[in-house]
Amino acid sequence: MKKPVIAIDGYSSTGKSSISKVIAAKLGLIHLDTGALYRGVTWFALQNCLNDSGTIDLEKLFSSFDQIELEFKNLDGELVLFLNHIDISKAIRTNEVSENVSFVAKQKEVRDFLLQSQRNLAEKGGIIMDGRDIGTVVLPNAEYKFFLTASIDERTRRRYQELISLGIEADEQQVKENLIERDRIDSEREIAPLKQAEDAIVIDNTNISKKETIDEILSHIQKI
Ligand code: DC
Repeated sequence: MKKPVIAIDGYSSTGKSSISKVIAAKLGLIHLDTGALYRGVTWFALQNCLNDSGTIDLEKLFSSFDQIELEFKNLDGELVLFLNHIDISKAIRTNEVSENVSFVAKQKEVRDFLLQSQRNLAEKGGIIMDGRDIGTVVLPNAEYKFFLTASIDERTRRRYQELISLGIEADEQQVKENLIERDRIDSEREIAPLKQAEDAIVIDNTNISKKETIDEILSHIQKI
């Protein structure tokens, strides 16, 4: 029997990726954190495509796509992102990447570059993909769609904790401002904005735990 395709979209730091990872392990699905792909392209741009004033030169980036090879490798059950054979899983979580990723992700050229590979990965089913436009654009026919949301203060707290646990220095106020700005750019962009699919199930997890969010999602998914 074909395993399902599940789309999980929502605001930054609502736990989409860590929740998807647990659900994938429970149901025997592949988990793809699509935000990591946009972060990977942003990391590449910051390394290779800056102009004289130190900002990202989009033309340079667009003409460098053929030099970007993004690949998830399964290391002990964990999908780790490699860019041109370098493990960038930690590098893509830095503030510098977080501050630039929405600008990069709103570019049509970047979205087109990443779209087909995301769809190809879902072709055989058995995948849970998290992002901003999975239920609306990447996989509009996904069998299950969820949209996660939570208050800005709770999301700030989670993001701050995540950075600290990764050993990355962080300032709570700065984390909050970055989340607000990123959500604004992601929601207002012209192409594939962050938006709830009409047929998505909305879960506000401000006051519920990660486990309760997972249970709620699982309760909607028929036994496989
Ligand atoms: O999930 P995340 O915070 O790692 O995502 C980083 C950025 O990538 C986010 O600000 C918006 C963008 N993104 C997107 O535009 N579309 C997706 N499917 C996933 C992420």
